[in-house]
Amino acid sequence: MKGIVLAGGSGTRLYPLTRAVSKQMLPVYNKPLIYYPLSVLMLGRIRNILIISSPQHVNAFRGLLGDGSRLGLNIEYAEQPEPNGIAEALVIGAEFIGNDPVTLVLGDNVFHGPGFGRLLQAESRDVDGCVLFGYAVADPERYGIGEVDGDGRLVSLEEKPARPRSDLAITGLYVYDNNVVDVAKNIRPSRRGELEITDVNRVYLEQGRARMVNLGRGFAWLDTGTPDALLQASQFVQTLEQRQGVRIACLEEISFRMGFIDAGACYELGSQMSQMDYGRYLMEIAHQN
Ligand code: DAU
Repeated sequence: MKGIVLAGGSGTRLYPLTRAVSKQMLPVYNKPLIYYPLSVLMLGRIRNILIISSPQHVNAFRGLLGDGSRLGLNIEYAEQPEPNGIAEALVIGAEFIGNDPVTLVLGDNVFHGPGFGRLLQAESRDVDGCVLFGYAVADPERYGIGEVDGDGRLVSLEEKPARPRSDLAITGLYVYDNNVVDVAKNIRPSRRGELEITDVNRVYLEQGRARMVNLGRGFAWLDTGTPDALLQASQFVQTLEQRQGVRIACLEEISFRMGFIDAGACYELGSQMSQMDYGRYLMEIAHQN
């Protein structure tokens, strides 16, 4: 399984915050936003990852994450010259994907919930078709919306409908079989001139090969689209981290717990930041294990 993080876009809704800085580089409490979706791929046991961003910002991500080797990952980078649609990530990433299935995650989506890694691993094993993840929201007209039958099969799909048929938003996490590259190459740009991910998903829906898993009400899928939403996401992470004494989307910890790096390497990464709580936390968990 390959993984793609799409971290481009113009970010205009967050101006002036994003005039010079990529949206996915903005802080969510104590980490850059991109750490959260990247942690999702890692929890799904995906180690070969392509980060796609705009030509203006791609080097900042390279500076932040490098080739991924210190996290036991292999990270590559690609540019999306213009924000021509989420599905374009699958065309840009075609060579990287090769003959493998792929999980695509939007670089501004924050997920947190019990058993999420196990769920993602189970849903992506031998994927045939596509798997989407639904989440009940109060404002469904702002999202892609799906309806499922009793077996979890997707039966309808609409992008930002004025009158939504359900309140299940389709989150920015998509698991596909290898066919998706051909599917994405063959869809036409929408009226907005974008390759829409909803059109890719509709092809699978029409083939009867699209499933949607409901993440359920004990789960958190957070919005980061406005300054208020960003602040609320920060406060959510701060509350849980301070209350439980554990960290959310701490990439070094996840690498260690997934067995991508050993205790010695985790300790070493922590010791490089030993003046910070973040570094001391890593040294402590490496030591305990
Ligand atoms: O977040 C989930 C939603 O994401 C889904 O429910 C919708 O079905 C899906 O279309 C998408 O809707 P958004 O309105 O959030 O899409 P937006 O254009 O804001 O793009 C989402 C992120 O992807 C954003 O951080 C920018 C990035 N992006 C977007 C486009 C269109 C790119 O990197 N390149 C692009 O070409």
